Amino acid sequence: MCGIFAYLNYLTPKKRLEILELLVNGLKRLEYRGYDSAGIAVDSSDETAIALIKQCGKVAVLEEAIKHVAEKLNFDALLETHCGIAHTRWATHGVPNEINSHPQRSDEHNSFVVVHNGIVTNYKEVKTFLEQKGFRFESETDTEIIAKLIYHFYQKHPNFSFRELVENVVQQLEGAFALCFKSKYFPGECVATRRGSPLLVGIKTKTRLATDHVPILYGKDEPPISPKEHRPHGRNEYPTLPRTGSTSEFEPLEDKQVEYFFASDASAIIEHTNRVIYFEDDDVAAVRNGVLSIHRVRRGGDDPNTREITTLKMELQQIMKGNYDYFMQKEIFEQPESVVNTMRGRVNFETGTVTLGGIKEHIPEIKRCRRLMLIGCGTSYHSAIATRQLLEELTELPVMVELASDFLDRTTPVFRDDVCFFISQSGETADTLMALRYCKQRGALIVGITNTVGSSICRESHCGVHINAGPEIGVASTKAYTSQFISLVMFALVMSEDRLSLRKRREKIIEGLRNLQEQIRIVLKLDQKVNALAEELYNKKSLLIMGRGFNFATCLEGALKVKELTYMHSEGIMAGELKHGPLALIDNTMPVMMIVMRDPVYTKCMNALQQVKSRDGDPILICEEGDAETIAFASRHLEIPKTVDCLQGILTVIPLQLLSFHIAVKRNCNVDCPRNLAKSVTVE
Ligand code: M6R
Repeated sequence: MCGIFAYLNYLTPKKRLEILELLVNGLKRLEYRGYDSAGIAVDSSDETAIALIKQCGKVAVLEEAIKHVAEKLNFDALLETHCGIAHTRWATHGVPNEINSHPQRSDEHNSFVVVHNGIVTNYKEVKTFLEQKGFRFESETDTEIIAKLIYHFYQKHPNFSFRELVENVVQQLEGAFALCFKSKYFPGECVATRRGSPLLVGIKTKTRLATDHVPILYGKDEPPISPKEHRPHGRNEYPTLPRTGSTSEFEPLEDKQVEYFFASDASAIIEHTNRVIYFEDDDVAAVRNGVLSIHRVRRGGDDPNTREITTLKMELQQIMKGNYDYFMQKEIFEQPESVVNTMRGRVNFETGTVTLGGIKEHIPEIKRCRRLMLIGCGTSYHSAIATRQLLEELTELPVMVELASDFLDRTTPVFRDDVCFFISQSGETADTLMALRYCKQRGALIVGITNTVGSSICRESHCGVHINAGPEIGVASTKAYTSQFISLVMFALVMSEDRLSLRKRREKIIEGLRNLQEQIRIVLKLDQKVNALAEELYNKKSLLIMGRGFNFATCLEGALKVKELTYMHSEGIMAGELKHGPLALIDNTMPVMMIVMRDPVYTKCMNALQQVKSRDGDPILICEEGDAETIAFASRHLEIPKTVDCLQGILTVIPLQLLSFHIAVKRNCNVDCPRNLAKSVTVE
């Protein structure tokens, strides 16, 4: 998915080369999101012009291209104040090529340039309007209309500030976007805004900021004008507008050295500063004379006076690969720790109690609800399937599990007394976010289950649970799945805390949670054995994964991992459905894996195993440690420690994560960034 990174240094001299390196590095931190081209805009040697460097392909290709413009750009020039913007593009409108890459520009002199994440849905109408005004378009993107529209407003209102121009532009746009603008008419300034796509700014100062808040200016409020303000070309005068009380509280960082880092996610910022502001939809943030101000066109009843500067807890090494070759591999092996982090401060193993601080106050309301709805996409959806049975058992409520896209397609009826869970690692998945807004409008209680603090789903939920799995960089979700699973199990435990009849069951589950860390370590020791199976499977065309009951979700999730990482066909099959079709696929050439644990559906799974074997199938079993009787039925098997039935899926999924990883490596696939996929799917 697209990535934005912009850097503004105010009274902090930097060589042009340093700035370029910083921008390229920012883009590298965003590479994990998936992209197909990259670009950068900086001031050129003639400081009234902007240089654009764009390339199709990886950031490394852009880096090479930058080297070739060394002479033209005067790499050694010291820039005291400067704004550079950069972007990685994941094509939505128009093929991946240099012209379609961002920054997009207003005209051949690059008067205004913009980088954009998201999609402008009314771009055709705006394009027609601009064409009538004489603008000629060069790209196939929706973004180009934004660059041209701001230029159009500039020509019409040459006295408008940069921020006012952007406000005028975004009022004309429909769809989802995060935008960062740069202009040759406003050197050293940057304006950024968002609606539906995430955006944040990191702030780095020599001395600690006097305040943890930045005021929000509503309507036509302006930040105080600095006496030192310079107005290049005499064109960007502030209009003289009435001021309101809120501006007097504004304390500019005037004359102080300051650096700003705008980005679509924190991984690009964290190495520079941990002080960040997450922007809300329709915030327009402007940096002028080193002063950051946040504006909103109008004020609603409950709108706050300030945006808080938060301190990120994430550390750089958390997002680095460590001793592993791939992020995904690292994340699989982090699971003994990540599951503990999910439970930390929530499960008290001594007293056998569970507390979820983020939803505590809402538990009485949830207990009174009509039904629980669990909504997500991909792996997050599978975590809902994995825990549905336990939720039904411990809450005795109807539980609906929904794919966000299908839920929206059906315009599913939702009521005020529904409780809707939105499960999302990134917290930014467009379908899940739209489903959230749909349910919120209908008055349901919204509970977010996310891994990303400050994400849109987090902010728009009434309450929620952070799964605390740590940053997940690999596109294939692994540790987030097991942590989502545990979060939902903890919720089921909270809901049943006063049910005497369930006491024994709850105790067993809590004991199971206590042992998980050690058991995951044991499962991870299967790595070499799984690698040997991958050797046998990597050149096959297909892999069927069968199971039922508490392990059906593992089949779906395992098959999704195999598909997305190895580009091999794979299907998760409900073993109870075999006779209704899938059995026709079985012969002695079809690779099959079966999950057969000693749980309530053991006998049924054994039946399925017999059916497969009697059609010459030779399934690889995932079964319980020491279960000689079951093992005797298969030529190859993986033994998994026993835990309570409803937690078994946390252990059975790990060999399939490892298997998909090893097959992907053997097939020379891009493990961390599979083709055509992105980590954060912020478009429908
Ligand atoms: O960030 P989310 O959990 O909302 O993402 C949902 C899916 O896009 C995601 O789980 C996807 O299926 C993974 N790539 C699977 O590994």
